[in-house]
Amino acid sequence: MTTVPTRTLNNGVEIPQLGFGVFQVPPEDTKGVVLEAFEVGYRHIDTAQMYGNEEGVGAALAESGLARSDVFVTTKLNNGYLEHDAALDAFQRSLDALGTDHVDLFLIHWPLPTVADYVARWRTLEEIYASGRARSIGVSNFQPAHLHRLRDETTVTPAVNQIEVHPYLRNDAARAADAELGIVTEAWSPIAQGKVLDDPTLLRIAEAHGRTPAQVTLRWHVQRGDVVFPKSVTRSRMEENFALFDFELSTTDMADIDALDRGERTGPDPDTFAYVPSA
Ligand SMILES: NC(=O)c1ccc[n+]([C@@H]2O[C@H](COP(=O)([O-])OP(=O)(O)OC[C@H]3O[C@@H](n4cnc5c(N)ncnc54)[C@H](OP(=O)(O)O)[C@@H]3O)[C@@H](O)[C@H]2O)c1
Repeated sequence: MTTVPTRTLNNGVEIPQLGFGVFQVPPEDTKGVVLEAFEVGYRHIDTAQMYGNEEGVGAALAESGLARSDVFVTTKLNNGYLEHDAALDAFQRSLDALGTDHVDLFLIHWPLPTVADYVARWRTLEEIYASGRARSIGVSNFQPAHLHRLRDETTVTPAVNQIEVHPYLRNDAARAADAELGIVTEAWSPIAQGKVLDDPTLLRIAEAHGRTPAQVTLRWHVQRGDVVFPKSVTRSRMEENFALFDFELSTTDMADIDALDRGERTGPDPDTFAYVPSA
């Protein structure tokens, strides 16, 4: 079976560079989809309280027979839990839903800078980290200014920053801030939810390598050093997205894909996103 390379986080924890995302996988389908992903070989699952499918991930973990230590599990604090006690309670509900006494990575899902103080929420994550119930903690959708405030005002450096990155949104400034601070970048929507797949440059490079545009795009992320977790409910695509480690893009291929950047987001702008669900 393919061995997925790992990246070492700033606290020494190893994270598989390729994982499986479950955003928009319906809760009732999640157990079956994640079990299929395990069969294909994925050992890193990215879920979130917001996705409503942590229980399905937990059921798959339990039914798979895999050792807990063989699977890297990430979940994220939902936007409604802005206060200390509410965040702690929500974290415990995640552990219960996932059927585990710890996660490998717990993230603040969105900074919500116009709504509430993300520094206070980060201190709650520091407390969770100190309790040993999250092997590492990080952030998602944090802009450079948000990271710099955490650096100046708190103790623990986030292990990762999970941000939107794909060929149409290189997101260079956020990636540079991550690198400066020793934070691993995780690239969400790595194939822009499919929007990049008919790009002529990606089609040309894919044809030259006898690969698909999705594989070329995911390989571009891997060679840049980012962690990715493409989502698919389709078995053949799960397999396709997992077959990234037996070919290599040239420097020219990489530069040609870099040149596709148009600053185009598929998701919200983190500086203005302010969605807070009612409790
Ligand atoms: N932190 C955040 O704010 C945030 C935001 C968004 C996403 N994420 C994370 O990132 C993960 C991935 O992002 P995403 O789910 O938004 O988008 P994505 O992985 O870029 O794309 C998923 C879409 O592409 C299709 N697809 C997957 N592989 C394909 C292939 N080889 N060929 C053609 N189509 C393919 C899937 O279809 P089918 O499923 O129908 O096969 C699905 O519609 C999420 O699941 C989540 O874990 C995080």
